[in-house]
Amino acid sequence: MTNPLAPGSLTGKVALVTGSSRGIGADTARYLAEAGAAVVVNYRSKAPRADKVVAEIEAAGGRAIAVGADLTDAASVTGMFERAVAAFGPVDVLVLNASGGMETGMGEDYAMRLNRDAQVNVVDNALPHLAEGARIVFVTSHQAHFIRTTPTMPEYVPVALSKRAGEDALRAKLPELSAAGVEFVVVSGDMIEGTITATLLERANPGAIAARKSDAGRLYNVSEFAAEVAAAAVDPVPADNTRYVGDTSGFAPEA
Ligand SMILES: NC(=O)c1ccc[n+]([C@@H]2O[C@H](COP(=O)([O-])OP(=O)(O)OC[C@H]3O[C@@H](n4cnc5c(N)ncnc54)[C@H](OP(=O)(O)O)[C@@H]3O)[C@@H](O)[C@H]2O)c1
Repeated sequence: MTNPLAPGSLTGKVALVTGSSRGIGADTARYLAEAGAAVVVNYRSKAPRADKVVAEIEAAGGRAIAVGADLTDAASVTGMFERAVAAFGPVDVLVLNASGGMETGMGEDYAMRLNRDAQVNVVDNALPHLAEGARIVFVTSHQAHFIRTTPTMPEYVPVALSKRAGEDALRAKLPELSAAGVEFVVVSGDMIEGTITATLLERANPGAIAARKSDAGRLYNVSEFAAEVAAAAVDPVPADNTRYVGDTSGFAPEA
């Protein structure tokens, strides 16, 4: 996939991508770095993977650091922004990509703690560290964005409800964000082939990917979706602050 961002278009800018040790977050970090941004690669526990993303960015001539922080841990989040600002200065682009809730052994309320409470806490912590005219991008799925009107696979329901709750809680902050001169964009996409989430859902619901593909016409892969997330960091803010990626015709809009 070609980088949608022009080379040098983000020179002098700083980006922080949560959960960018792998998958969509990692590709988003690479695109932003290729465009010239200094990038903070956040991860929870997989330091070697995050270090590899940083090494790839540096090998391509970019600037990046890896910062471990469990976003459900408030002290971790404070430390993440302190390290980011100490390394690169105020943050111009904050991509809220990290997500979870299908992991085992994390407690019943983990999805809500990560996908709603932690997202709000990250934004609250970010505000004093954001550069003028900064942009926050919240990444979600159609299955979560439309969960109030369109049922999804049972294994994904807690994730979908918590991600929608997180989206709503962030949207409720729009007046505060605009007063601070901060822009906000939600990027919503269908199932992304090649991700752990899609693989787990396919395992529990054989044929789920083929069914979505047939309904939607096509599905995006990781690098294609990441390109949309990266573009959402710079393109004009879309209507209702929402960038839909791919077909949404199988999802019912709210009345
Ligand atoms: N997968 C799909 O089909 C799909 C479809 C549409 C939208 N999306 C959205 O795209 C985004 C990325 O999805 P993905 O499938 O690429 O995710 P993923 O492969 O599950 O990657 C999750 C990333 O988040 C990090 N992370 C998890 N829990 C964390 C925590 N508590 N604190 C800090 N970091 C944490 C992980 O770090 P470690 O590796 O260190 O644990 C990893 O870097 C999500 O917002 C998701 O909702 C995904």
